Amino acid sequence: MTTIKVNGPSPYEVIIDHGLDTAIAERVVSTGAAKVMIIHQPPLTEPAFSLGEALTARGIEVVVAEVPDAEAGKVLSVAGSLWDRLGAEAFGRGDAIIGLGGGAATDLAGFVAAAWMRGIRVIQVPTTLLAMVDAAVGGKTGINTGAGKNLVGAFHEPDAVFIDLDRLVSLPADEIVAGSAEIIKTGFIADTAILDLYESDPVACLRVDGHLPELIARSVSVKANVVGQDLKESGLREILNYGHTFGHAVELRENYHWRHGNAVAVGMMFIAHLSQQQKLIDAELVARHRTILQSVGLPVSYEGGHFEELYSGMTRDKKNRDGHIRFVALDGQAGATTRLEGPSVEQLQAAYEALVEGGAR
Ligand code: GLY
Repeated sequence: MTTIKVNGPSPYEVIIDHGLDTAIAERVVSTGAAKVMIIHQPPLTEPAFSLGEALTARGIEVVVAEVPDAEAGKVLSVAGSLWDRLGAEAFGRGDAIIGLGGGAATDLAGFVAAAWMRGIRVIQVPTTLLAMVDAAVGGKTGINTGAGKNLVGAFHEPDAVFIDLDRLVSLPADEIVAGSAEIIKTGFIADTAILDLYESDPVACLRVDGHLPELIARSVSVKANVVGQDLKESGLREILNYGHTFGHAVELRENYHWRHGNAVAVGMMFIAHLSQQQKLIDAELVARHRTILQSVGLPVSYEGGHFEELYSGMTRDKKNRDGHIRFVALDGQAGATTRLEGPSVEQLQAAYEALVEGGAR
């Protein structure tokens, strides 16, 4: 078992191991909660049932709430029906919610918990690689509305996060690949040992019986260290946005049909090209991005002819300041970050062209 402490206003632990139902149930008992609602996505009926049994066996009253998969679950009507259910089941301040699923489920469960009685405990049990290394850790919760993704939400730190490695065994290979983009991101911004592992054996980096457990622990440690110092993103936390400015523009242009991790991979290539053109990093470091991302099957370029649309997407990024597009960039080397602010349209276009050309190699 690996335990990673997340400091901040309400410190908590991230526990990584195989077969965690008992540990989760014991954690719920230790909080003194009498009732728990397990919010889960449809493919997780069986894991929700076995977790429910472990809780019931310890005298906890269990309410199981299935929500629609992916982004269809992260909407106001679903949150509203969960609050109605919490009311009907008389959930009080001392009771708890468990978010079991991918990032959409943990974001939704966290937000429902944050708002119910102004905040009850949420225990996050992420089941996709992306949710394990990113969404479920750090206390960002929220839903999507007609105005955009994640514009309604709250910072609500979990009571604990349980990463059950057994969940990865049945995860589709392309989900492991997409989740790897966020791990590689933490390698570039902070922990270069992650990059060394991908360079030494990329195949083992995709395997639960290979380097994946160590990579998850390293990536979560980077995130824990960052959010422990800056929960509300007043400065440092922004580094977790490496590759996301252009990545979000790709997701928007693709109507969110692209996997987030794939868009972040392309976004990292974009910022690498832009940073090289601005003389922040050298060609070798750009090539290191390409080699590592490609080695696990992540995309490293994007089709040409869409600059205007992608530029418009980048201007809508939440992290922009004073009308300037703002990027997290590497400062000369992997593991050191800086900010690249207000590049000209011509500079952005040149980086886009380098990205498109990268696909032609
Ligand atoms: N996913 C970026 C963050 O949690 O800040």
